[in-house]
Formats: sequence, structure tokens, C-alpha cells
Amino acid sequence: MTKKRILTGDRPTGKLHLGHYFGSLQNRVQLQDKYETFVIVADWQALYDHLGDEKGRAVGQNVRECVLDNLAAGVNPAQATFFVQSEVPELAELTMIFQFLVTVARAKRNPTIKAEMISSGLVDSSAAPQDDAGWDQLADKINCGFLTFPISQAADILFCKADLVPVGEDQLPHIEQTREIARKFNRLFGETFPEPEGLVSATPRLRGLDGNAKMSKSLGNTINLSATPAEVDAAIKKAFSGEGHALGEYAELFGVDMKQFEKDGVVQMGKFKPALAAAINEFLEPMRARRAEWEAQPAKIRELLDTGRDRLRGIAQDTLAEVREKMGLKYKF
Ligand code: TRP
Repeated sequence: MTKKRILTGDRPTGKLHLGHYFGSLQNRVQLQDKYETFVIVADWQALYDHLGDEKGRAVGQNVRECVLDNLAAGVNPAQATFFVQSEVPELAELTMIFQFLVTVARAKRNPTIKAEMISSGLVDSSAAPQDDAGWDQLADKINCGFLTFPISQAADILFCKADLVPVGEDQLPHIEQTREIARKFNRLFGETFPEPEGLVSATPRLRGLDGNAKMSKSLGNTINLSATPAEVDAAIKKAFSGEGHALGEYAELFGVDMKQFEKDGVVQMGKFKPALAAAINEFLEPMRARRAEWEAQPAKIRELLDTGRDRLRGIAQDTLAEVREKMGLKYKF
């Protein structure tokens, strides 16, 4: 029996952190045996709010970081296939076609687009629109690629007819939009695309070091997967420990019994925090070892992406041949 397929991936806008690991990477690692797994490095997606700025210019570096982070986390290139979005240009053609299936109103209604408008700095979260009309006006300010990146993400997922998409919770609206696109295409042109399922992890959203509801690089409250032991120690030492802190959640995740550090019902942070930092460091240690191996042979990362590109372009070309045929975009005179 052929294996079912997973497609998932990341925007290369910086180093991946523990939130990414528990939100999505862990599922990739756990499911790569059972599913045929494809991992996309979505470089076009890094540009919609970073064109020409520092992060936009760092995209090359971040593509490498992103692959390294995945390899370090335990995504095994003998089982999973890595590829870079822009190196499979067939994805642009499929995006072009899918754009005809989505109204502008539907594109504007994607809640993740709204959240991204805020995190990209277009509007302060305290000044976020209160109603649809306000959002509508705001959406007039973003570029077309920003508005339609979820449609391009649908192409990322559907070109290989993925069955399952392990993602962080914030990505679920994109999966919903992808399913709508698949349904609409199938209705108009005949059964072509399966409707993929999103898969959210047991820890869909890891809290930040500052106690914020989300660990996020734009909030600067992360522990990167590539953090050194000293960086982990310092981050935990500095972590917010007041009302509503995230440390209990971390303790549970990394198997530290917080109760053990209580005295008269109060957690002794001076003792608990070093124990937590040690547990996180122990968890990251095998990742550090794998990362060091790959860092020592940079040409291998390029090789792995070359292989992935060739394989995935083949798959994309087959899907597009089918799509063009079904749409009547095939001219023999
Ligand atoms: N939008 C995803 C993120 O921000 C990255 C991504 C691009 C993706 N294409 C995808 C994720 C397809 C899952 C499936 O992390």
C-alpha cells in the first residue's frame, strides 16, 4: 500500500524555536515513518512583509537555518524530502490558477491574514480594527502577494495531493482555505485534489518566556532550537516568574516536578529555574549534536535540496498536466 502524504514546512524568517518544535516539528519527526513526508521551505512567504528589508535580504541565510533546524530536530532526510518553494516554479502556476477560485472578500476574511497584518507592523494591536469594514480598509494597504499567500500555501499543499498537514494552530485558517479551493476545483473540473486535514499538536501554542500567550520571534520571548547552554540558562534566569508565568507549562513539558521546589507553598525560583534550564539543555543536546554534524558539511544541505527539488518538480509537473487537461488548457490545432 502506498503511504499517505504529509506536506508541511516553515517560513524562513529566522531561527526556529521551541514553540515551532512543539507546535509542528515534533509531529513531523513522529510521523515521518508512517507518512511520505515533504518539508517545504517557503521562501516566497518570507517576502510578503519583508521585501527589501533586512529579513528579506537574509532569506538565503534563513533557508539554510530552517533546514538545519529541521535536521537538528530529528527530521530525517532519509525519510523526509526537503525542498525550497521558489525552486519549484510549478507552484507559481498552480497558485495562479487557484487565484481564480477565491474571491477577494474571502481572501480578506482569513483570520491569519488579519493577525499577520498586526504582526507585520501595519497596525498596532491596540489599534486593531473593530469591525469588518475596518479590516477591509486595512487589507487595502497590503500587497497582493500578502493577501494571496494563503492561496499559494494551498498550492504548496495540493500540488502533491497531501493528506495531512501538521501545523501550529495559527495555520488552521490556511488549511480551511486550502480545503475550500480543493472542493471548488473538484466541483468545477472533476475529482482531482483530496481535501487535506490539518494536524495540530498536543501543545499547539507554547507560551513565551515573558508569559505572553505565544512564543514568537517578533515578541522576542523565545528559546531557539539552536540556543547554546549558556543562552538557555540566561533566558530561563530572566524569564518572567510573576502572576501568569509560563514556567509551569515548561516544567511539565520537560519533566521537571515544580512541586519539589516549593517551600511553604511558594516555588523557590532560585532552585527551580536552574533545574528547568538543565532539563531544557538536556532536551536540546541531541539536537546540538545533529546540528554540528550537518554544519560541518554545508554542501550536503544543498545536495539534499537539489534532490528534493528534482523529485517535487516531477510530482508538480504531473499534477499540472492533469490540471491543464481538466481545465481545457491544452491546445492541439
Ligand atoms: N505559513 C507557514 C508558516 O508560517 C509556512 C508554510 C508555507 C506551510 N507553506 C506551507 C506550512 C504549507 C504548511 C503547509 O510557518
